[in-house]
Amino acid sequence: MPSLAIIGAQWGDEGKGKITDYLDEEADLIVRFQGGNNAGHTIIVDGKVFKLHGLPSGVVRPGKLAVIGNGVVVNLEELGEEIDQVLQAGGSIDGLRISDRAHLIMNYHKKLDGAEEKYRGKNVVGTTKKGIGPAYQDKIARIGFRAGDLLEDDLLDDKISFILPYKKDILDLMGAEPCSCTDESLHEKMRRWRDMVGHCICDTSVLVNESLDQGKNVIFEGAQGAMLDIDHGTYPYVTSSATCGGGICTGAGVAPNRIDGVIGVIKAYTTRVGEGPFVTELSGEEELALQHKGGEFGVTTGRGRRCGWLDLVVCEHSARMCGFTSLCMTKIDILSDIPELPVCVAYEIDGEEVRHFPASISKLNRAKPVYEYLKGWKGWDDTGAVVRAGYDNLPGEMREYIEFTERYLKTPADLISLGPDRDETIDRRGSWWN
Ligand code: GDP
Ligand code: IMO
Ligand code: MG
Repeated sequence: MPSLAIIGAQWGDEGKGKITDYLDEEADLIVRFQGGNNAGHTIIVDGKVFKLHGLPSGVVRPGKLAVIGNGVVVNLEELGEEIDQVLQAGGSIDGLRISDRAHLIMNYHKKLDGAEEKYRGKNVVGTTKKGIGPAYQDKIARIGFRAGDLLEDDLLDDKISFILPYKKDILDLMGAEPCSCTDESLHEKMRRWRDMVGHCICDTSVLVNESLDQGKNVIFEGAQGAMLDIDHGTYPYVTSSATCGGGICTGAGVAPNRIDGVIGVIKAYTTRVGEGPFVTELSGEEELALQHKGGEFGVTTGRGRRCGWLDLVVCEHSARMCGFTSLCMTKIDILSDIPELPVCVAYEIDGEEVRHFPASISKLNRAKPVYEYLKGWKGWDDTGAVVRAGYDNLPGEMREYIEFTERYLKTPADLISLGPDRDETIDRRGSWWN
């Protein structure tokens, strides 16, 4: 099996970074295909913490190719800071490759992100203010800068001469902070970016496809989660990219038949950052208790994550959109010592039982969770010992929680994550690459 995708099944922060890092020991390429540095992926190796935003998780292990695909939007200013962090931690970015077709996030995109949020007033999305939406808008409007442009001075001059005045007018119209750069200073900045990453820019679709032809192992690392997908998520409370399975094809430049397995990463409870419907959301002390126990604070913005119970209506929707072949349940350790665990199996909307996640935000706001209540289990002191003892020796109630999810989604939970460290993982399958 030479390619595996890792996709979040909820609203992001499911632990994709940890699982990518766990599985990429035997991978040759780790490919990001959508999103940008709105992502915050945490990897912990022997107590050393890496917080990655724009870089694929593969940079943490030496000898891997860490690929930023064409579907990603890249902030080279901030990527430079991230690269410095990796280098300071003794890592290397020799394996970094950036698609010549990837669009660039410019400073004016960040300003516009803030200004658009102000206009939305009470309908604010709660974006990360990283300029993600405005950068994708420019891509679709055919006025974006692409990484490959950095390698062509004439093309850059030409594009800067019409895009910069246009963007300055828009900033002005929106009442946003003005952009002080001139054509020359922007070109100069882009020359600096070229010096930094010019040697990494290439046709990554060719690279990924040829690697697959050679039998190399490829991981497609999702960012955000299926419920933040621009089409299939809780629109308009979504991000601006295709986070589901289909996004891999357009965002990495591979055909659907090149994706051999899709791992749906499901946090054992649900979290969400920013605004938008959340049917199983807790409130008050109960929510704060789960937030603190789970350390649910955003890696990118530091915001407290909203918390609630596991919602299998959400997971069924994501499984359908992404084609999960395996599940990975993360953070189930956080649910230890809770006597009874509600799991949402349907919604009640206007007196009717609904089992498929609806498109309508107003219906979702009226939806009440229909719960089944599963028994809780006692926690432990030594996670290492629990991992070594293996799946069959986990508390029976915990296994029932996992197997209830497997039955509902008709998909095996091949990976169980019991802690943030790479080693705190039970792998029920063992071999992933043949
Ligand atoms: P991502 O965006 O999907 O990569 O997830 P984040 O890194 O934003 O958030 C997941 C958080 O949970 C990080 O702090 C991880 O270190 C941590 N984490 C991941 N898996 C587990 C787990 O199984 N148990 C616990 N307790 N923490 C975990
Ligand atoms: P990872 O990869 C959680 C959310 C924002 C906001 C919405 C739109 O770490 O799981 P954007 O800046 O993308 O336009 O914001 O999407 N969001 C995330 N929430 N995890 C993420 O990434 C997210 N990336 C964006 O909070 O609600
Ligand atoms: Mg995250």
